[in-house]
Amino acid sequence: MDANSIEADLVRVLCTEEQIQERLAELAQEVWEHYEGEDLLLVGVLKGAVMVMADFMRHLPGSAPMDWMAVSSYGSGTKSSGVVRILKDLDADITGKHVLIVEDIIDSGLTLSWIRTNLLSRSPASVEVLTLLRKPDAAKVEVETRWVGFDIPNEFVVGYGLDYAEGYRGLREVATLAPHVYS
Ligand code: PRP
Repeated sequence: MDANSIEADLVRVLCTEEQIQERLAELAQEVWEHYEGEDLLLVGVLKGAVMVMADFMRHLPGSAPMDWMAVSSYGSGTKSSGVVRILKDLDADITGKHVLIVEDIIDSGLTLSWIRTNLLSRSPASVEVLTLLRKPDAAKVEVETRWVGFDIPNEFVVGYGLDYAEGYRGLREVATLAPHVYS
C-alpha cells in the first residue's frame, strides 16, 4: 500500500519511496567500498528491518550473506526498561566475521545498544550499524552508528517495516501516524 491509499490514517510522509531507495543505494555503495574483500555478514533484527534488508541487499553491487535475530525489546517492562530477550538467535557463528547490523530505526537506542554489546562478546572481527531511520531527540543511550539513512523528528512513524499494532509495515513510505489512530 502507499500513503495515498490510507491518507486518513496519516499526518504526513517523512520519506518517500524514491527517497528511501535513493538513500539505500548510496549507503550500499559506501558499505560495499568499506568492506571490500572482507568477510561481511548482514544481521537483520526482526521484524522491522525486513524491508530495509531486502532493498539494501539488492542495492549492494555484490553478494553478502544475511542472518536474523529476533528480540523481545522490553521484557515485561516499558519501552524504557532496556531489557532485551533473544527470541531467535543467529544461525551462524560470527567469530572473525565483519558484522553489519541492519536496522529500520534507532529510537531510544536501547535495543541496538544491547544487541551490539551481545554480538561484540562473540569475537567478531567488527560490528557496525546501519539504520534507515534515527530519532536523535529520543536517544537515551548513544549507539555508535556508522551509516544512517535519515534523521527524523521524534514522532510516531509507521511504514517501510515500522508498525503500529502490527499494521502499516507494508506502507511503501515512512509517515507520521495520525493521533486518532492510536489514541
Ligand atoms: C523497533 C525497531 C528497533 C527498536 C528501536 O522494534 O525495529 O529494533 O524498536 O527502538 P529503541 O531504539 O527504542 O530500542 P520493535 O521492538 O518495535 O519490534 P519490531 O521490529 O518487531 O516492530
